[in-house]
Amino acid sequence: MLNALPRTSLGFFPTPIHPLPHLSARLGGPTLWVKRDDQTGLATGGNKTRKLEFLVADALQQRADTLITVGAPQSNHARQTAAAAARAGLKSALVLRGTSPADRTGNILLDDLLDAEIFWAGTRSLDEVAAEVAEELSARGQRPYLIPLGGSNPIGAAGYAAAMLEFVAQAKTSDLCFDAIVFATSSGGTQSGLVLGAKLSGYVDRVLGISVDHTADHLVPLLVDLANATAQHIGAAITFSAQDFEVNDQYLGGGYAVMGEAEREAIRLCAQTEGLLVDPVYTGRALAGLIDLIRAGEFKPEQNVLFWHTGGTPALFAYAQQLTA
Ligand SMILES: Cc1ncc(COP(=O)(O)O)c(C=O)c1O
Repeated sequence: MLNALPRTSLGFFPTPIHPLPHLSARLGGPTLWVKRDDQTGLATGGNKTRKLEFLVADALQQRADTLITVGAPQSNHARQTAAAAARAGLKSALVLRGTSPADRTGNILLDDLLDAEIFWAGTRSLDEVAAEVAEELSARGQRPYLIPLGGSNPIGAAGYAAAMLEFVAQAKTSDLCFDAIVFATSSGGTQSGLVLGAKLSGYVDRVLGISVDHTADHLVPLLVDLANATAQHIGAAITFSAQDFEVNDQYLGGGYAVMGEAEREAIRLCAQTEGLLVDPVYTGRALAGLIDLIRAGEFKPEQNVLFWHTGGTPALFAYAQQLTA
């Protein structure tokens, strides 16, 4: 089913799974493991590489020559889209929120190195500006292909259904059983795909998204719709409802991309115990949530909990001052 979809190879798969013994010991909780989607290989990696393998294949089929996408100034998705375009011999145009910052660091530096054309949207709707950019590029004779926020449409989310099949096969080969998978959730493609992949592969344990920006009330209906549309896209006769999605929205802190003490602690603890970097916006927040849940006794010491690392580490550099203050 998933194998029949057009796919352009952009990353290195399967990504590794390994234990986090020192972090587990420090927390005195369950045995923690990590799946390294920060190592997908596309210009410092991240979860969007999996979605882009399917999105770029579709763009190529439609004979597009430019990928357009939208995001926050430090968007990991935008950076991976620019890298995917470079790998596939396409151009890229990124519509980013706000205005051009004086300091071009983190993902913005990489966008520039990857030769993305950046359009600053100010406070306007990203989708509205992207539609205008598409018109402008078409008028120039380019053939744009529009990728939504986070690559979260049925074509992109199929990448995470495939990721779940990859994970289940790895767990089986290594004779490992996991009680929960925990990860950062935002635009929904990762979680919808994982839950669809779980249904396809028979994985029945927890798939827990820690929201970095939306309330569960807002996100769950979007996840249901996207999972249903993705199932239809891949030709699977599966229907989802709200009960299929577990979203924890208790760790929204000061809002999207506002790093607080919890994220700062998670970043340092993970780096110092495991030599593993998480980012201030997504994986740092999700890990901070997981740490808090462990401290609150949510998981038993004999359980295996997998933290699915979704990337984002270039954003660390954009937070250098706050991280070292
Ligand atoms: C590092 C990182 N983790 C997690 C996510 C969330 O993934 P999704 O948007 O598919 O929910 C993102 C989205 O941009 C991200 O950049």
